[in-house]
Amino acid sequence: METTDAYDGLECVDCGARFDPEEGTHRCDDCGGILDPTYDYDAVDLDRETLAARPFDSMWRYEELLPFAREAAVTMDEGATPLVECPDLADELGVGRVLIKDEGRNPTGTFKDRGQTVATTAAVGHGASDVALASAGNAGQAAAAYAGRADLDAHVFLPARAGFTTKAMVNVHGGDLTVVGGRIGDAGAAYEEAVEEHDDWYPVQTFVTPYRHEGKKTMLYEIVEQLDWEVPDAIVYPTGGGVGLVGMHKGATEFRDLGLIDEVPALYAAQATGCAPIVDAFEAGRDVHEPVEHPDTICGGIEIPDPGASPWILEALRESDGGAVATDDDEILDAAIAVAEREGIEMAPTCAAAASGAWELADRGEFDGDETVVLLNTGAGNKEADVLRSHLMGQGI
Ligand SMILES: Cc1ncc(COP(=O)(O)O)c(C=O)c1O
Ligand SMILES: [Zn+2]
Repeated sequence: METTDAYDGLECVDCGARFDPEEGTHRCDDCGGILDPTYDYDAVDLDRETLAARPFDSMWRYEELLPFAREAAVTMDEGATPLVECPDLADELGVGRVLIKDEGRNPTGTFKDRGQTVATTAAVGHGASDVALASAGNAGQAAAAYAGRADLDAHVFLPARAGFTTKAMVNVHGGDLTVVGGRIGDAGAAYEEAVEEHDDWYPVQTFVTPYRHEGKKTMLYEIVEQLDWEVPDAIVYPTGGGVGLVGMHKGATEFRDLGLIDEVPALYAAQATGCAPIVDAFEAGRDVHEPVEHPDTICGGIEIPDPGASPWILEALRESDGGAVATDDDEILDAAIAVAEREGIEMAPTCAAAASGAWELADRGEFDGDETVVLLNTGAGNKEADVLRSHLMGQGI
């Protein structure tokens, strides 16, 4: 497997054991912990001018800080998404600037493409023939798309309540779709059972492959570069498993350690009240979440009752001096509609938790008057137009 110069292996976040990327493919062999790619940062020769001279055309423009070379990547030029100024929202929140990082402009309409491009590249490097995962929907669609491009078979387990678009598109990409009655936990259980039976399936599951958060860290690189190297005061992120949040914290730390920026932005996890294990743990001052027994939110992507990486997520929130906020489904849907009406940007319900979370944080006085606040629109609103439209119907519209 061909790796980039500075990439020097995988490290277990729990026990610190190290693995060669050739042999270490998923979780830690010693303790089962999550593996994190590490780099020899002295071997990374990147400055602001070098980056500015490159076209803003794909997340792979940061290849020195990714495990694999752009040339070898299974890529559709994902990333390099716009950071859209939202003056109306800035007025509403009473802050200097609000910008939306619009991840809806990715090949399959969500930020999941950033994870799958790296994870699929690793799968190819490891000689896999099949990839497999359980997902709330978007990651499954992305996995099927990248697997198709790499000529791999994708086995995708989605809960019955996953959105129609994601289910349909898994099929359209030629994936093997299993729809499981119930919710994400049920899809996860069916997936685990199937993986036991098929030892040739290469998992591209959240935090089972070390490469999904690695791809998502590029969101942070892009945000600061798009802000001309100004670090935003706050980034609000719709948090389920926390892959993107952990990734962005890693990205910020790397840019800081490389001297490209001076500080890391405050990261805020936004969740739905019906499933908010991270918010609960943050508010209670705990280092780890307690599983939510009866999760219930319309926001499927963040209905993750038992996020295994919670210690890492909570550490990122605290280390960055950020926070956590939960809002109700109704407020989240109202926020999606307000953003679409007033700024034109289409946020899916899951993603709009970041907008309604930002509203709530502003009400609590968390921001001061001249702050720059970035909201992550992790996926396109038109993937769940039916959910947004029926919210209007509920209002007689
Ligand atoms: C649109 C969208 N936003 C956010 C998330 C949550 O992602 P993370 O695991 O990074 O918290 C998901 C996960 O399915 C999603 O589909
Ligand atoms: Zn370990």
